[in-house]
Amino acid sequence: MSDILIHTEAGVLTITLNRPERKNSITRAMYTAMADALAGADSDPAIKVVVVQGHETIFSAGNDIGDFLSRPPAGGESPAARFLQGIATFSKPLLAAVCGPAVGVGTTMLLHCDLVYAGDNAAFSTPFVNLGLCPEAASSLLIPQMMGYHRAAEALLLGEPFMAEAALEIGLVNRVVPPTEANGVAQAIARKLAAKPGSSLIETKRLMKKGQMHLVLQQMAEEGASFARLLREPAAKEAFGAFMEKRKPDFTRV
Ligand code: COA
Repeated sequence: MSDILIHTEAGVLTITLNRPERKNSITRAMYTAMADALAGADSDPAIKVVVVQGHETIFSAGNDIGDFLSRPPAGGESPAARFLQGIATFSKPLLAAVCGPAVGVGTTMLLHCDLVYAGDNAAFSTPFVNLGLCPEAASSLLIPQMMGYHRAAEALLLGEPFMAEAALEIGLVNRVVPPTEANGVAQAIARKLAAKPGSSLIETKRLMKKGQMHLVLQQMAEEGASFARLLREPAAKEAFGAFMEKRKPDFTRV
């Protein structure tokens, strides 16, 4: 069974993260499959809406750490960068259904979704600093904008997780539902959108996003360069080594 499932029905293309045994952590191949699906959906007039979903116990543990260590992203051309560019510039409505942990890119990709439905077990976290890294996906711009600077500092400097109700309060999610219902709710809303005029949806989204699209892409490029640099530094090596060895990282010397 593939780690990414793609399904199209009634004008809705659904991307399902399907690697529960590794907590839906995302490999280069998965980023490529998702970027390809988004690019295909953007240019296919038969697709009006895209939904990204996981499993009712896990949305995503973020980047696959083993994959990261074996071939670190070197900046703008990596599959991860292509995916992030793809979601940031996707022209049609993009929905997500999120249950369980959403770590790193599992949370930051949601900043580029138009509508997000969360199970009440959803736990969002952006622990980039704890990994010796820095934010990606323009989250260093979008998270402070969304939740205010001080709460953003809790999320991005301390790397503290926040739960579905807090995500609802700050506006990261639209609705909190039982985990068994999250994917179904997202599908129902996607169908509702797919029944609307496609060109009006695209134009409305473009108008809402255009004000800061260039800032988002600029921030993403700057973050990508910093992320790639930090990945080669001792703190990240210690953090990832500790994860692989199942121990706590020791940053006292870095
Ligand atoms: N990359 C690679 N493998 C991962 C992974 C990741 N990001 N996240 C989890 N896994 C693996 C674990 O190593 C474990 O493998 P094992 O069965 O061989 O020991 C398996 O998936 C199950 O994970 P586990 O940690 O036991 O599950 P959990 O339910 O206790 O916790 C998480 C789930 C998501 C909270 C936890 O796995 C986690 O914090 N993962 C790391 C997230 C992270 O730092 N991501 C950022 C990457 S940039």
